[in-house]
Amino acid sequence: MKAKLEQIKVSALGEISADGADLEQLRIKYLGKKGELTAVLRGMGQLTPEERPVIGQLANDVRAVIEEALGRRTEEMKEKAMAARLLNEKLDVTMPARRPLVGHTHPLTLVQRDLEDIFIGMGFSIVEGPEVEYDYYNFQALNIPEDHPARDTQDTFYITDKILLRSQTSPVQARTMEAQKPPLRIISPGRVYRSDAIDATHSPLFHQLEGLVIDKGITMGDLKGTLDVFAKKEFGEDTRVRFRPHHFPFTEPSAEVDISCFACGGKGCKLCKGEGWIEILGAGMVHPHVLEMGGIDPSVYSGFAFGLGIERIAMLKYHIDDMRLLYENDVRFLGQF
Ligand code: DAH
Repeated sequence: MKAKLEQIKVSALGEISADGADLEQLRIKYLGKKGELTAVLRGMGQLTPEERPVIGQLANDVRAVIEEALGRRTEEMKEKAMAARLLNEKLDVTMPARRPLVGHTHPLTLVQRDLEDIFIGMGFSIVEGPEVEYDYYNFQALNIPEDHPARDTQDTFYITDKILLRSQTSPVQARTMEAQKPPLRIISPGRVYRSDAIDATHSPLFHQLEGLVIDKGITMGDLKGTLDVFAKKEFGEDTRVRFRPHHFPFTEPSAEVDISCFACGGKGCKLCKGEGWIEILGAGMVHPHVLEMGGIDPSVYSGFAFGLGIERIAMLKYHIDDMRLLYENDVRFLGQF
């Protein structure tokens, strides 16, 4: 029996230390109720009373040795499994994170906000008008009656005979005169529409910014001073402003306003097409008849108005040579501003 126990011990220890041993299976095989050690102990009855304690002691020792080996091996395997997991699930916390793609302000919005800031700085407030507008405000209240030739250059999209998509922000002038009492000092940015074919400089939808000032004693000097400040703030402190006589039905006198070229300073370059000057907006003194239609007495009040194209300013400022780029939402283009 002694030899049998010794053999059990040796073979158990061998199997336990073998690679890939199933420890639970081995525990059952050697120490379980039907295990090899138990089988030996069952045979104890045949031993002499002198042998029994000796063999009993030996059997207990063998059990203890096997249990101890199983325990140690279990621990070892746990540690090995953990080490393998740590190696596999390695995480480099110093690795830079993947940045989410974040958009930013569209160049037209950038310019519009710039312009708003400049005029707010001069005491203007912002007024909004509807894009779906009455013919009355878009044309008639601005001295452009039916059949007036000025309508040709501002052909737009009609909803009914009397309702259209506004072709300019100027109708906000007429609406503001009706809604508020002078003194008035407002700007109105927004979308306008014309039935123009799309090309590098035309779009059926674009943006304008309108300005209107009405008070007692407003003169063309105020208009020039205001536009001078605007031009310097938007295009640089050296920028000069030039007025050229022009005609708009709702202002008298009217002017087209140029700025000295901010790229060459006025010497002539590609941007100003050799002129040294760049046309930037239309302006004038509000026509007395327009004041009257707006319920304002032209013998008491006078005012000036101006209107500019936001696309045009964005294209000049950022050297964009094709207007279509502003509407295509190509992130490779938009990411540059
Ligand atoms: N509304 C005009 C246009 O779209 C621009 C304009 C010219 C606006 C003169 C004005 C102005 O307020 O006084 O062509």
